[in-house]
Amino acid sequence: MITLALSKGRIFQETLPLLAAAGIEVLEDPEKSRKLILPTNRADVQVVLVRASDVPTYVEYGGADVGVCGKDTLIEHQAEWGTHGLYQPLDLQIARCRMSVAVRADFDYATAVRQGARLAVATKYTAIAREFFASKGVHVDLIKLYGSMELAPLTGLADAIVDLVSTGNTLKANHLVEVEHIMDISSRLVVNQAALKVKQASLRPIIDAFAKALTVSA
Ligand code: PRP
Repeated sequence: MITLALSKGRIFQETLPLLAAAGIEVLEDPEKSRKLILPTNRADVQVVLVRASDVPTYVEYGGADVGVCGKDTLIEHQAEWGTHGLYQPLDLQIARCRMSVAVRADFDYATAVRQGARLAVATKYTAIAREFFASKGVHVDLIKLYGSMELAPLTGLADAIVDLVSTGNTLKANHLVEVEHIMDISSRLVVNQAALKVKQASLRPIIDAFAKALTVSA
């Protein structure tokens, strides 16, 4: 059995065409079903639904053989736990967005940075934020949040946030502006290294089909 770990939402939806290219069709819609293990048209392939931040953990420890997760999730996972046995063969170019710094529209970020002010930065992505501000030589106090980061500058909890931006609509709706583009984000295929050896015969064709589908769409 090959087990593929996916998170619900954009990553699940955008992985479906790649699975189709590998001849795999998921037989239940996670938005309608409460099931966490979804069957596919292949008796030897199943999908498990996990939180995005749990995908690397499932694949690393063999709860899943393969998974799809964002570069943001991978960087944070590696910073906290290191890498053991996670093979990352492909950038799938899906669920694309960017990691940015945003502040209230009335906060003069450039001046604060120039004057060497110490910034309070709220984020779920502490490793990425720490590395980014360290590389700029900006002193920050990081405040760890688990969601709704946009609220932090509005309530006075923080001067700035580090968060994912896709359309920019969430920032705009909350009167925040992007002041730094930290990095582009997209989702990667991650594979358990031991599974790649032991289940080579069934895993390789799937990885190859994904790679081919990417080349065609590029
Ligand atoms: C992300 C991010 C922003 C939003 C940005 O949240 O944290 O809140 O998307 O998208 P936009 O620029 O298109 O408005 P997501 O919906 O992934 O959920 P999360 O808060 O659980 O991370």
